[in-house]
Amino acid sequence: MILPTETVYGLAGDAATPLSVAAIYSAKGRPQFNPLIAHLADLASAEKVAQFDDRARKLAQAFWPGPLTLVLPVKAGGQVCDLARAGLDTVAVRVPAHPVALAVLAAFGGPVVAPSANQSGRPSPTTLADAVAETGQAAQVALEGGSCRVGLESTVVSLLDEPRLLRPGAVTRAEIEALIGPLSEAEADAHRSPGRMTRHYAPRAPVRLNVLSPLPGEAYLAFGPATGPVPAGVTVWNLSPSASLSEAAARLFVDLRAADASHPTAISVAPIPQSGLGEAINDRLARAAGWIG
Ligand code: TXA
Ligand code: MG
Repeated sequence: MILPTETVYGLAGDAATPLSVAAIYSAKGRPQFNPLIAHLADLASAEKVAQFDDRARKLAQAFWPGPLTLVLPVKAGGQVCDLARAGLDTVAVRVPAHPVALAVLAAFGGPVVAPSANQSGRPSPTTLADAVAETGQAAQVALEGGSCRVGLESTVVSLLDEPRLLRPGAVTRAEIEALIGPLSEAEADAHRSPGRMTRHYAPRAPVRLNVLSPLPGEAYLAFGPATGPVPAGVTVWNLSPSASLSEAAARLFVDLRAADASHPTAISVAPIPQSGLGEAINDRLARAAGWIG
């Protein structure tokens, strides 16, 4: 099922059924060593599949429903199958803040895995049309939920030992640190943060970052008020004319896709401030450019 959430559209299935989970990995072309997030209707349901400690409960109470995923020790007898967890003894859980997603989760009752509904390595879909174009052939049902409000995937925090930021997102580092103290960086070890390898979120065109003067033939993702005339031969998408980071996050993948569809020689991107939500935007851009893997 194509399922809308507040972050991005997911390709959703029953977390307890290995066949359904296998079909999801296959439809995305996703390696089976990269585990999926289990989505639940509320904290009480999440406590049935993962072991929560005080820090986890504090974060869940503050940010759920919302764009935060917690990686926790798996609960014995929980319903998220081995394949969904890529065989790990941990599980990623989140309660999305979208009325359609919450209605489906509440009606279904059990955990639902939902990776972003893109082909592995491609930008996540933030509209139903993009989701259907990416993985719709694998879904029997696709639910319309409008354009995703956040536009970037959830923040992923591991609470296995010291808290670690595995993926920046709309719940910011500062908001998390205010509740549970300093976050360590993700380890380079791929098994601790299996999603952080390979070129990710990548359009077909090459991506150049921190560009102030785009070249003819390029598509340009601008940020903030225009400072001069558009150079000849450059097509411009402005992520946020008013320099709002939340607007830029919500537009990022849509504009990357639109820019890519214009078949430019490259997609060049203006500098984006690193503060707050900027950390997550710059993380996705660096992966799209192949800077970090
Ligand atoms: O916003 C989101 O989280 C979206 C929507 C659809 O909910 N879903 C999403 O799922 O982004 P996906 O599969 O595209 O990304 C899940 C990330 C991956 O980087 C994966 O490696 C990581 O979560 N992950 C999942 N389970 C994990 C675990 N047990 N330990 C460490 N990382 C885990
Ligand atoms: Mg993804």
